[in-house]
Amino acid sequence: MNVLLMGPPGAGKGTQAEMLVSRFAIPHISTGDMFRAAIKNGTELGRKAKAFMDAGQLVPDEVTIGIVRERLAQDDCRQGFLLDGFPRTVPQADALEETLKELGLELDAVVDIHVPREKLIERLTGRRICRQCGATYHVVFNPPPTEGACGKCGGELYQRSDDSRETAENRLDVYTRQTQPLIEYYEAKGRYKRINGEQDMASVFKDICAALGRDA
Ligand code: AP5
Ligand code: ZN
Repeated sequence: MNVLLMGPPGAGKGTQAEMLVSRFAIPHISTGDMFRAAIKNGTELGRKAKAFMDAGQLVPDEVTIGIVRERLAQDDCRQGFLLDGFPRTVPQADALEETLKELGLELDAVVDIHVPREKLIERLTGRRICRQCGATYHVVFNPPPTEGACGKCGGELYQRSDDSRETAENRLDVYTRQTQPLIEYYEAKGRYKRINGEQDMASVFKDICAALGRDA
């Protein structure tokens, strides 16, 4: 199953991706996670991405396309993959089409999690992440059992630096300008599925599985 997960910042892509890859045993390819790992490890890629991410801007297409091309060419993607947060621009979508063609692969579905803007700021500014295992929480919608500590591994929870109100607003503006046009792009290709992301996490998951024609 080759799936692309779309949606604005805070729509719940990462949350649903975690559930989908564990249910369907396919690799999770998140460009945001790849960039954050590169920054943490102090690599050249991280150095290139950091200033853009801190400002809530997109990392340039040529950098982003390169890392996804490399990742999709790895053997584990032959059994399926879940792309999360890529593509985000029309040039990235064109590059993805080209890469998949070269690899003899096709997208089965483009799942777009839809949440109105006013709800997204609340989700982003309340998000907390485990430093140790990467699990995602929300101070109101999905609080950890003990404040400040991960319920899965006990690790310390932190707030992403781009989840400040100001940067979150920027990210949403960038989404509207640069990524929203992809909705029409994929609608025209006939694989586009829109999901109501305003429901609780389990209901969103159920709807995504139904859209993919699979049991939850
Ligand atoms: P990236 O890491 O991809 O972030 P994003 O798209 O901004 O998405 P988020 O991770 O913020 O949100 P999400 O949809 O995963 O929501 P989550 O599940 O955590 O990108 C970060 C940056 O990297 C970009 O700004 C850019 O600079 C760069 N980048 C990445 N990809 C790029 C690309 N292709 N090209 C160029 N640059 C790129 O949920 C959010 C919160 O809501 C959580 O607290 C969660 O617990 C809660 N929540 C989730 N679901 C629900 C629900 N149903 N009800 C209530 N609360 C919920
Ligand atoms: Zn943890």
